[in-house]
Amino acid sequence: MARDFTSVGVVGLGTMGAGIVEVFARNGVDVVAVEVSEDALERGRAILTGSTDRAVAKGKLAEADRDALLSRVRFAVGLDALHSVDLVIEAVPEHLDLKQRIFAELDRVCKPEAILATNTSSLSVTEISVATSRPNQVIGIHFFNPAPVMKLVEVVRTVVTSADVVADVEGLCKRLGKVDVTISDRAGFIANALLFGYLNHAVGMFESHYATREDIDAAMKLGCGLPMGPLALMDLIGVDTAYEILDTMYRRGGRDRRHAPVPLIKQMVTAGLLGRKSGRGFYTYERPGSPVVVPDEQTPVTADAALGDGTRAGGESAGPAAVSKIGIVGSGTMATGIIEVFAKAGYEVVSVTRGAEKSAKVFEAVKTSLNKGVVRGKLSEADRDAALGRINWSATLEHLADVDLVVEAVVEELSVKKALFASLDEICKPGVVLATTTSSLPVIDVAMATQRPADVVGLHFFNPAPLMPLVEVVETIRTSAETTATARAVCAALGKTGVVCGDRSGFIVNALLFPYLNDAVKMLEASYSTADDIDHAMKLGCGYPMGPFELLDVVGLDVALAIQRELYLELREPGFAPAPLLEHLVTAGYLGRKSGRGFRDHTRR
Ligand SMILES: NC(=O)c1ccc[n+]([C@@H]2O[C@H](COP(=O)([O-])OP(=O)(O)OC[C@H]3O[C@@H](n4cnc5c(N)ncnc54)[C@H](O)[C@@H]3O)[C@@H](O)[C@H]2O)c1
Repeated sequence: MARDFTSVGVVGLGTMGAGIVEVFARNGVDVVAVEVSEDALERGRAILTGSTDRAVAKGKLAEADRDALLSRVRFAVGLDALHSVDLVIEAVPEHLDLKQRIFAELDRVCKPEAILATNTSSLSVTEISVATSRPNQVIGIHFFNPAPVMKLVEVVRTVVTSADVVADVEGLCKRLGKVDVTISDRAGFIANALLFGYLNHAVGMFESHYATREDIDAAMKLGCGLPMGPLALMDLIGVDTAYEILDTMYRRGGRDRRHAPVPLIKQMVTAGLLGRKSGRGFYTYERPGSPVVVPDEQTPVTADAALGDGTRAGGESAGPAAVSKIGIVGSGTMATGIIEVFAKAGYEVVSVTRGAEKSAKVFEAVKTSLNKGVVRGKLSEADRDAALGRINWSATLEHLADVDLVVEAVVEELSVKKALFASLDEICKPGVVLATTTSSLPVIDVAMATQRPADVVGLHFFNPAPLMPLVEVVETIRTSAETTATARAVCAALGKTGVVCGDRSGFIVNALLFPYLNDAVKMLEASYSTADDIDHAMKLGCGYPMGPFELLDVVGLDVALAIQRELYLELREPGFAPAPLLEHLVTAGYLGRKSGRGFRDHTRR
């Protein structure tokens, strides 16, 4: 007969434990909440009351329900209070010896039929289980942060966990309103195995001054639709907890260098910069435990102030140049979208294509897209006509002689782009910003085709350009501060967020996104889980808008493979080697939605 879990114990009331207590108590289960000292108990109680008070204030929980919830929780110091519970969930810091000690003690204290569960993110549930005399009743129940909000629970069975224990815990998760995926005991399970290489990489970008914390986070939020950027997420997880998870994953997960914690993380832990819980991590918070970010010495001055100032350390001019007339070269998807974006924002545009036929096609495409805006009530007919009227159509580069900014969006071939930039160098007036939209070529190669590399910058728009709010502004080692300031000011004038980054393969977004997608393919290839469960885990555990396989099918497997190859070739990181399964699918013509089949068969839906 299935166990009914009328009372549970939670050990450790930190970031996770306090949230797990709330999940159970909200669902009518009596909870014994245990900490190591009276002080820690008070901290845990404060997290729980803070969270439930916020839920009441937001109208998500009635006051009476909050009181009933809190009345179900009994707080205690020491494990002895857990003698009669049906299930214990341990959520103490991520140290194997500590967890093993606690499990040995729980084994002694708890009734023989009680299930003992760990919320570990990366340690071996099997190794924890053997500290008890009942490893068949030990299981991983991995909640996601914040536990009351995130729907996913990873249920981790070891080789000795009894089938009835697994089934009962799965039933319990459903009763808690969670979606569970059951998996075996591997470092990082599904979600963290895919998440932490990405987080560590993002910290590495920040540590090496590749981009600012705000720009890294904005890039992933706006470029990928993630609920928060990686550095804000590190602060939510807890920098100390993240360190321990990375360290364990490095040791357990085949010593993948991508999991070796970036040195800055250890330094932050030593300095007590633990994230939200200590009031300061990558960002500074109103007070310990608060989610509200307050300005600190790294906060950029507002765009207006920065642009008005016009100087940088050393007295170098960094103010943006005035830009009103734009040249756009190309006639593909990106060029078409970018023409629309500039014309709609009020710029005078000179579109240069390879002939009248191409120009006519682009004109039709821009008109169709603007018409959609009119139909949806987002654009008046007069504004549409004005935008179209601002575009001058040309088949010769000579017409770019008096523009203030050129955006190149021609085919992704270095020789073609270099030849074009050499011509622009001859034609354009001095001081003009020359921008390339390349997504994979080094911007410096293009810049050096001109006599004015200081004026060359990358402007990496995302597809579809009229909709995507992000532009990566790519600085080469020769780009001047003024060029970058101008490019950023133009992005702002377009209503987009320009994030500045260095000239490395994948810039910010692709460099962080594609290795994660590639890792998901490797996980599938290793038969650790199914595409459906992996997609579920990332959507419900981490709040991603799409799972990795859904996204790969949309992006195109061939595109993903090409980007991953570039990253691998430039960075020589063994973990970036494209997954063989990805290569095979591309060879077989399974490219995703566009070919009808990728990881899923789209012809039958
Ligand atoms: N932070 C996350 O986002 C996250 C997500 C999922 C799982 N986890 C896992 O959950 C576990 C807890 O992580 P956290 O981030 O909540 O850590 P935390 O540091 O915020 O909290 C740990 C708590 O355990 C308490 N504790 C320490 N020793 C104890 C003992 N002997 N008895 C009782 N309590 C004790 C501490 O006082 C502290 O309150 C870890 O295994 C972690 O990997 C964390």
